[in-house]
Amino acid sequence: MTDNKIFEQLHSKDNTYKNLYDGEWVESNTKELIEIKSPIDGTVVGKIQAMNKEEVNKAIKNSKEAQKLWAEVPLNRRADILYRAADILEDNAERLAEILTLEIAKDKKSSISEILRTADYIRFTADSAKQLEGETIPGDSFPGTTRNKISFVTRVPLGVVLAISPFNYPINLSASKIAPALVVGNSAVIKPPTQGSISTLYLAEVFNRAGLPKGVLNTITGKGSDIGDYCVTHEDIDFINFTGSTEVGRHISSISVMKPLLLELGGKDAAIVLEDANIDKAVDNIVSGAYSYSGQRCTAVKRILVMESIADELVEKLKVKVRALKTGDPRKEGVVITPLINSKAADFVMELIKDAKDKGGKLITGGNREENTIYPTLFDNVTLDMRLAWEEPFGPVLPIIRVKSIEEAIDIANRSTYGLQGAVFTENIDKAFYIANKLEVGTVQVNNKPERGPDHFPFLGVKSSGMGTQGIRYSIEAMSRLKAIVLNLNNAE
Ligand code: NAP
Ligand code: G3H
Repeated sequence: MTDNKIFEQLHSKDNTYKNLYDGEWVESNTKELIEIKSPIDGTVVGKIQAMNKEEVNKAIKNSKEAQKLWAEVPLNRRADILYRAADILEDNAERLAEILTLEIAKDKKSSISEILRTADYIRFTADSAKQLEGETIPGDSFPGTTRNKISFVTRVPLGVVLAISPFNYPINLSASKIAPALVVGNSAVIKPPTQGSISTLYLAEVFNRAGLPKGVLNTITGKGSDIGDYCVTHEDIDFINFTGSTEVGRHISSISVMKPLLLELGGKDAAIVLEDANIDKAVDNIVSGAYSYSGQRCTAVKRILVMESIADELVEKLKVKVRALKTGDPRKEGVVITPLINSKAADFVMELIKDAKDKGGKLITGGNREENTIYPTLFDNVTLDMRLAWEEPFGPVLPIIRVKSIEEAIDIANRSTYGLQGAVFTENIDKAFYIANKLEVGTVQVNNKPERGPDHFPFLGVKSSGMGTQGIRYSIEAMSRLKAIVLNLNNAE
């Protein structure tokens, strides 16, 4: 049931949002604010605090203190708090979806599904943590060791987890860091994307309401370019869980010396379409994979590698479906192509479109822009000298590269600096496995678009797409460590 007053303390009457600190919503001392404007029409969604380093330090120190007690709370009680958080989130899904839509221009249907998926994620995290088991290792299996030794191996928390999330999933990619971190006894400090902060602050209140002890979850708002380096190098941060661009991920990895990291970064996922593919199935998957949320997904299909013999048919069928995509205001029913997050992002996509046009790419549809909305764009005959063949647009633009053989497709796919996912469309399982085994990526989808879910599957990028593995059990494992206690008995031989 929705409680209308539940989020009242998050912001003042003029929509100035506060930060969660030690269980209370507080304003920054500096009174420096950042206006969050909707990408839909520029209206102000609210203002957030631009915290300074002193305040960031206070928040992290507070989380450090809180973690000591939280680690002592029995796992079943930590899990109960997560179950309550999932219920609160679900009860308020409509309301939070509206905020999400307004703040990041995600279409209505995808906003609701982000929130419901997050509630499922949180519940599954609690379930999974309860199934975690340790082990005992007898010493005498190692040469020269007698039966008097036994090692008890359990999982313990790391301490304070710094969670940094990107704009495209400010609720889901914040919760998928916070929930696994908390359930194993870490405290968490969340630094949300600036555009997406408001949605994440609502999520923080969901956890707070669910009964988290004070300080176990604190929020930090402000621009990454101002406070990011300070956060990631702070002495009391024990783990950094980052999702965002390769550029920022690489930077964090270069300055956060000796801190364990999980990095989920950019991608250039290829969909390889073979002669024997079910073309209609491939087309449906490619269109939804490439264009949902205007292509602003790390796992979006970002290039097609198609066998020449079926390329004309594929392009024809894609053209029809791409032209039918509804473009406009994300609050309207059925709209898929929505304004990009900001004008800088739209400018970048237009640069890639221009480069492809200038170098002879065949524009099948789209290529035009209205403010920050880029109409769904499809390019055929993309060649390897074009930027569109290699760069991640993070927008609704799909290049088609025609290939002559499976080997050529694999070679082009692997020449990318990215290695998130790949997709193969074929009815031949042997060819599917042959290609899947050769692709240098974290995951290969056979006859499906690239995608992160279901969320208990491992999700990881290689090369410039990341480091470490997400996915419910994998995230719990990444944010905990083994601890061994060795019992040395006197009375065994
Ligand atoms: P971004 O610009 O890299 O920002 C990501 C987060 O990092 C934001 O919270 C940002 O804060 C923060 N940040 C910026 N500079 C920082 C610094 N020096 N230290 C610490 N934090 C800093 O990425 P984005 O534009 O939000 O997201 C799009 C990118 O994320 C794409 O490349 C996409 O492929 C990738 N992505 C990857 C995955 C995956 O799982 N592989 C998932 C989603 C997105 P501010 O907003 O304040 O700058
Ligand atoms: O944007 C990156 C997300 O991790 C992709 O998740 O495949 O569920 O859209 P998704």
